[in-house]
Amino acid sequence: MNFKKEISKAIKDSLASLGVPAVNFSLETPKLSSFGDYATNAALLAGKKLNQPPLHVAQKIKEELSLLSSLSFIEEIKVAPPGFINFYLKPNFLLKVSKEIISSRERLVSKTGEGKTVIIDYSSPNIAKPFGVGHLRSTIIGQALYNLYAFLGYKVIGDNHLGDWGTQFGVLIRQVKSKSPEKIEDLTIEDLEKLYVEFHREAEKNPRLKEEAREWFKRLEEGDREAREIWQKIVDLSMKEFSRVYKMLGVSFDVSLGESFYQDKMAAVITDVQEKGLLCESRGAKVIFIPGKETPAMLVKSDGATTYLLRDLATIKYRQGRWRPDLIIYEVGVDQTFYFQQLFSVASLLGYCSPEALVHVAHGMILGLEGKFSTRSGKTIHLEAVLEEAIKKARKLTAEAGVAKKLSPKEQEKVARAVGIGAVKYNDLKQNPRTDIIFNWEKMLTLEGNSGPYLQYTAARCFSVLEKSRRRSFENLPKIQLNQEELAIVRLSCHWDEVISEAAQKFSPNLVADFLYQLAQNYNHFYNQHQILQEEREKESLRLGLTALTTKILEEGLGILGLEVLRKM
Ligand code: ARG
Repeated sequence: MNFKKEISKAIKDSLASLGVPAVNFSLETPKLSSFGDYATNAALLAGKKLNQPPLHVAQKIKEELSLLSSLSFIEEIKVAPPGFINFYLKPNFLLKVSKEIISSRERLVSKTGEGKTVIIDYSSPNIAKPFGVGHLRSTIIGQALYNLYAFLGYKVIGDNHLGDWGTQFGVLIRQVKSKSPEKIEDLTIEDLEKLYVEFHREAEKNPRLKEEAREWFKRLEEGDREAREIWQKIVDLSMKEFSRVYKMLGVSFDVSLGESFYQDKMAAVITDVQEKGLLCESRGAKVIFIPGKETPAMLVKSDGATTYLLRDLATIKYRQGRWRPDLIIYEVGVDQTFYFQQLFSVASLLGYCSPEALVHVAHGMILGLEGKFSTRSGKTIHLEAVLEEAIKKARKLTAEAGVAKKLSPKEQEKVARAVGIGAVKYNDLKQNPRTDIIFNWEKMLTLEGNSGPYLQYTAARCFSVLEKSRRRSFENLPKIQLNQEELAIVRLSCHWDEVISEAAQKFSPNLVADFLYQLAQNYNHFYNQHQILQEEREKESLRLGLTALTTKILEEGLGILGLEVLRKM
């Protein structure tokens, strides 16, 4: 049962029968449980409209609500100054829902996404550079959004829009040709990055180099065989490294259609622009003007080279044709905000899709990792090295805490990898995607506090409790009085469904993380205060049930966040 929906409806009905014009009220879960399981500001808003004291209006709404039979799951409704209305659920209803969560073989979350398609454009690193920390957030948040939407029943397509086309390849081909054409087989990604950095240094003194690079990109776009071959080698080299990183992170895509995939699909976009009468020339470049905006969007440069924007337009057109998505989510850094506004405006001018069907989930930067992990040649911070370091620290953490000591060395290593990678992911996902985040090793690799290892450890604890017992559910649940700690678990669990929907709607996996952390805290608090396995059968059954409930939600939630759940730790 969706309590929130029922209560919302009841409030609306009450307002209507009181003759209050529609107000856009909220129905939230209060932070403090003493304020109930739900609270609404409806009376505050209605009071304003009616020009009556909100407390008085709240009282009237409450009376109206009490007449409704649809709220049979509510134990009590209270009015609180200055005019809030708080709802308290009946503990046996909470238990009933909890029981359903455990026993549903699938899960209880309503599949609101059924029949809808969403494309998630994420990770999308640039070829010929090491996989840098710059693309870590997009990869992790994008994957979590993917899991979240899939969980809600959407058809999800994850697309890695690799940066494998563009003028920078003219630079690289020029460099490879002039420096070490015969040694291309031995080049590493770091070498390529170095060649790229060198180019810009040299080109400052010798502008002719830029001309040469432009010429090479032109040849590449025209299908020149030599340019192609060098380009392909560079791509293959990069993909080898990227695959290693994705494997470490446990990330995968449905398709990886990089920018190069659209090389033969850009001309059709230009035709569309032309047909709409929107194509303009500006100093030799092909541009399109967006009403109300000063800067035009560039489609083709004056030297004939295609742009990132043109490829993204071709991408939208292609995606529309192939998948007819209801939504395309771009998980890309905040520094591309202006760019995406431009892209979305042009796409809608061309009639490719409505602007509401496109979202840019812009993430902030990762701070605090400079220095040690930077590559020799450039400013890129090497992700693989960071992940290796995380695993190393996780090995130390688990060894010192003695958590995995009963496991075989092989299993211990598995735990260290899961904990290390999980810590990095969770550190990112527990924060709002939009803010900058700090990479703090101590805070993320700890078994206490809001960290990945803490949640993994709690889940493993639950598994070990369940393992010790054969009975593992609220079998024939008694009319038992719940104590405070027990109640805290069921009260929170009832919101799981709502939290998942809200996290997807707001593109905020951090809401899932917050919820899991709260649940883990509630469970550990309960675990420390009460004996689970015991003589009294009813009590034991209840407590095992609560453990199963916590386990199930932690498993689902950690799965969404992409953290491995360990049965033993
Ligand atoms: N490769 C780009 C970059 O690293 C990100 C691509 C994002 N996706 C897109 N469809 N533009 O900046």
